[in-house]
Amino acid sequence: MAPRKPIYEGKAKQLFEGPEPGTLIQHFKDDATAFNNVKKGTISGKGVLNNRISEYLMLRLHDMGIPTHFIRTLNMREQLIKAVQIVPLEVIVRNYAAGSFSKRFGVTEGKALGHPMIEYCYKNDALGDPFVTEEHIFAFNWCTPQEMDEIRMYAFRINDFLSGLFAGIGIRLVDFKLEFGRLFENEREMIILADEISPDNCRLWDLKSGKKLDKDRFRQDLGQIEDAYREVARRLGVLPQDGTESSYVIEVNAKMPEKRKAASKSSATKTKSTKAKKKK
Ligand SMILES: Nc1ncnc2c1ncn2[C@@H]1O[C@H](COP(=O)(O)OP(=O)(O)OP(=O)(O)O)[C@@H](O)[C@H]1O
Ligand SMILES: [Mg+2]
Repeated sequence: MAPRKPIYEGKAKQLFEGPEPGTLIQHFKDDATAFNNVKKGTISGKGVLNNRISEYLMLRLHDMGIPTHFIRTLNMREQLIKAVQIVPLEVIVRNYAAGSFSKRFGVTEGKALGHPMIEYCYKNDALGDPFVTEEHIFAFNWCTPQEMDEIRMYAFRINDFLSGLFAGIGIRLVDFKLEFGRLFENEREMIILADEISPDNCRLWDLKSGKKLDKDRFRQDLGQIEDAYREVARRLGVLPQDGTESSYVIEVNAKMPEKRKAASKSSATKTKSTKAKKKK
């Protein structure tokens, strides 16, 4: 099998060309960055956990009518997704003051906001992802007012749903970042949820103790980073049972229809032989 075509390497994930037109493979790495790439490190096992957590949350959101890019999990670190044209915005939903918001407005971390709110940043690492308003968004034609309405509506619905879901497992959803994209299907264009939802881009605090269970542990050198990610996965009921890749593939295949199992078996064999060749 020809090596798959890399499309993009980001800070936390890699994208490869997918097996069918209009699809991509999203590979979750253990790499972690903070403060716009100034701080770099790895969180061992993060990619595996984020793949699992994002799969679970995207599926639950799909169940409640939010269109997402998630198609299916391929293996421990990879999922098949619909390729979209990313709207170049970080959509940040906040329920409590934290992080840069607390600093900008001089508000204590953890203060409840009067109501949930959305902030937008222009996705551009070179410019440090600057905050923008809808005026900038329309002036630069990053998206139309109709698309903006949909993005806002989805973001608030996602917030309501995820806040409840996390509260149910003893976690406060403090804030989180979403990305949306345009999907072109049957001559129609629609906005769907893309990227990932994981402790990399959500602030998650234990409801009772206030313990941070997210990437702030890495940003602030709080230690026990892997444990925090694992704790979120455990509470969501998606912790991989046994850390080995082979057991995971068997488990995923067991959930697949027969036809797909055969296809995935042959591609797994091919992947192994490609890896073996590479080692040589
Ligand atoms: N369904 C999708 N189709 C196309 N691109 C996607 C899709 N979902 C996510 N992406 C993009 O894939 C990349 C994922 O990589 P990663 O999250 O590591 O990037 P990053 O280093 O954070 O950089 P960026 O600032 O672009 O997000 C992001 O650029 C994200 O916008
Ligand atoms: Mg990213």
